[in-house]
Amino acid sequence: MASPRILLLSALAAVAPAANAQNFGGGARGADDFTYVQPLNTTILSAYGHSPAVYPSPKISGNGGWKDAMAKAQDFVSQLTPEEKADMVTGAAGPCVGNIKRIERLGFNGLCLQDGPLSIRVADYASVFSAGVSAAASWDRKILYERGFAMGEEFKAKGAHVALSPVCGPLGRSAYSGRNWEGFAADPYLTGVAMEETIKGHQDAGVQATPKHFIGNEQETQRNPKFDETGTNVIQEAVSSNIDDRTMHELYLWPFANSVRAKAASIMCSYQRLNGSYGCENSKTLNGLLKGELGFQGYVMSDWGAVHSGVASIESGLDMNMPGGLGSYGMDPTLGSFFGANVTTAVNNGTLDATRLDDMIRRLNTFFKKKDWKAEDWNMTGESSRDVRGNHGDLIRKHGAEATVLLKNVNKALPLKAPKSIAVFGNDAGDITEGFLNQKDYEFGTLAAGGGSGTGRLTYIITPLEAVKARAKKDGALVQQWLNNTLIASSNVTDLWNPTPPEVCIVFLKTWAEEGADRKHLSVDWDGEEIVASVAKDCANTVVVTHSSGINVLPFADHPNVTAILAAHYPGQESGNSIADILYGDVNPSGHLPYTIAFNGTDYNAPPTTQVNTTGIDDWQSWFDEKLEIDYRYFDAHNISVRYEFGFGLSYTTFELADVKVETLDSAITTTPKDEPIQPGGNPALWAPLYNVTVEVSNTGDVDGAAVPQLYVNFPAATTPAGTPPQQLRGFDKVMLKKGEKATVSFELMRRDLSYWDVVSQGWVIPAGEFTLSAGLSSRDFKAQAKVTPIKA
Ligand code: NOJ
Repeated sequence: MASPRILLLSALAAVAPAANAQNFGGGARGADDFTYVQPLNTTILSAYGHSPAVYPSPKISGNGGWKDAMAKAQDFVSQLTPEEKADMVTGAAGPCVGNIKRIERLGFNGLCLQDGPLSIRVADYASVFSAGVSAAASWDRKILYERGFAMGEEFKAKGAHVALSPVCGPLGRSAYSGRNWEGFAADPYLTGVAMEETIKGHQDAGVQATPKHFIGNEQETQRNPKFDETGTNVIQEAVSSNIDDRTMHELYLWPFANSVRAKAASIMCSYQRLNGSYGCENSKTLNGLLKGELGFQGYVMSDWGAVHSGVASIESGLDMNMPGGLGSYGMDPTLGSFFGANVTTAVNNGTLDATRLDDMIRRLNTFFKKKDWKAEDWNMTGESSRDVRGNHGDLIRKHGAEATVLLKNVNKALPLKAPKSIAVFGNDAGDITEGFLNQKDYEFGTLAAGGGSGTGRLTYIITPLEAVKARAKKDGALVQQWLNNTLIASSNVTDLWNPTPPEVCIVFLKTWAEEGADRKHLSVDWDGEEIVASVAKDCANTVVVTHSSGINVLPFADHPNVTAILAAHYPGQESGNSIADILYGDVNPSGHLPYTIAFNGTDYNAPPTTQVNTTGIDDWQSWFDEKLEIDYRYFDAHNISVRYEFGFGLSYTTFELADVKVETLDSAITTTPKDEPIQPGGNPALWAPLYNVTVEVSNTGDVDGAAVPQLYVNFPAATTPAGTPPQQLRGFDKVMLKKGEKATVSFELMRRDLSYWDVVSQGWVIPAGEFTLSAGLSSRDFKAQAKVTPIKA
């Protein structure tokens, strides 16, 4: 006899031909898959490339202080009709990027969901903040929170209830991924902190945060299936990110754990497949990891058009279908939604348990009830073009400057010392000639953000040229400019200044990246390397500034006439002011790289899977064979020289670190954590502090500046499974020091920081033996060490 699920699948087949079951074998699909149901609490090892089934979907527990709110949410749910319930979980047409319908009779005003991670995108008179990669480069918790809060204020003031932000997937597995700049750092620890601070900022300001994209969303190429011309039949499934269990826990799930702990209201599941099963219908990741292991209390929202089945997705843990039946990404809108009326039908005919639907809505409403937030408190329909920017321009200027990374500075080239003659080069220096929507890699104009749903709509842009000119005017300086890269690369730049050379040449370079495409190379765009060569040939003091999505190989870094290099990433609307503040020394650079700059693009491992030339439906497979070895973890494990390592960044002053001290906070550390009831973020014992590590930081130079001391952990080799990276970031701080001043900074090491994920016991384990704790100014510049042995061998 057919199981209910099989019946269900055929019930939906008429309206949902692309309906997809939970997959088990590298993408095989079919009704039989449904006959295998794995209870949540049964240990099952997920074989690499396979996604085991984990059912049923855990219900919200109310743990973590949500019990009252949950009860209020339940009260609300009990008043809804079946149709209203279906509406609550299904996107509808409306003014926002995603919309949930109003239910007037209950005073529920609907929900407005808006992108994205650096701005409320589909809005005018809103600020364009720095991108995630810039914010991470600040290595500054205060800035991360402040930015998240200010963004949240703007979302709320525009009437959005939900910010589709922040991003920790992609994490940065591949240097080439098109969306790395939306996220933070190629490191789970730094990204985890950045997620936590941003989410708290957003939610404290009154908007729900939506960490995304869960999980393994590490490339853009083939992120969605390809459909035939009817839009209904899949020709090739989306790429499958095949991630082993340990790597999943120690890299990709890690920052999501921080996000759940920060009580994010919602989490967006991703487009691509994960171990053979689509991100939004993967019961192992949604039911098992997110709602089970991490105790997530909010709701799982689909990415736009990422839903490929109805009840199969719901049973797997998906709580909201976005944008509903509006069709997107190649799917035929006439198919309608996999949710909507199908949900009501499924409950009515008994194929979907009504309590699961109630849980979906409770998850959605608990957040509102918790803070007594009422959806109607947001003014979605008021005056249009409301200016919500407040004084955020000042913050953005500061954030951009504090995040700028000084990579090279010889002969004290920087800060500038009131030069009387300046030459500015490059198509990134001046005004944008093709509009403010940031959706194109236009030739002329500075880059403040990348493209796609993670961009922002500029109200204004301060260009580097205009800011340098304004600053230079105070010194009565001559500022000449040459902004056409093609001409600069092929010309004799001395034509610009004959007969008297400028005191400094500043070359502004840019690198575009956008959603939907991976980067083809890691060079700067628009012949940037050639223009540096052309300028540096004749200008003995060439300063290079990059506005970039992230990693650029910088072959000109060795050129003796390139005296300084600044990586300014995507700083947002105050870009020019931020960089002028650094160039002139009003702000001492304190940004550090949130990734590694290698010598060559080919030095990076884990490139995206872009070359699948076969046509099999299931041929797009991306095997994460590098496991934990991404970015610095890889370069360190293989002893590969790099140009500028993760965590690196210079200052106009110098710093020293000394005297690492360790205070033990738990006198009876056990190998495994106590089994405590799951709270948001997982077993609370994992977050318990075990050691307090302190280090003395001193400013040894002659100007004030902010240091970024970092703590890396080396696990005991004999007792930790193979493949453990030699060094892993487990602490950082940013501390402002006057010249000659000293301060003590402390890093709390939690249980999770000293544990590896044991695939056999399915738990976190502290290995026996000695750990080395290294305090440094980058991942390769250790200044002082200490040893701890939490568990005797
Ligand atoms: C697709 C993107 O992947 C996601 O990040 C975004 O929030 C939605 N589109 C809505 O624009």
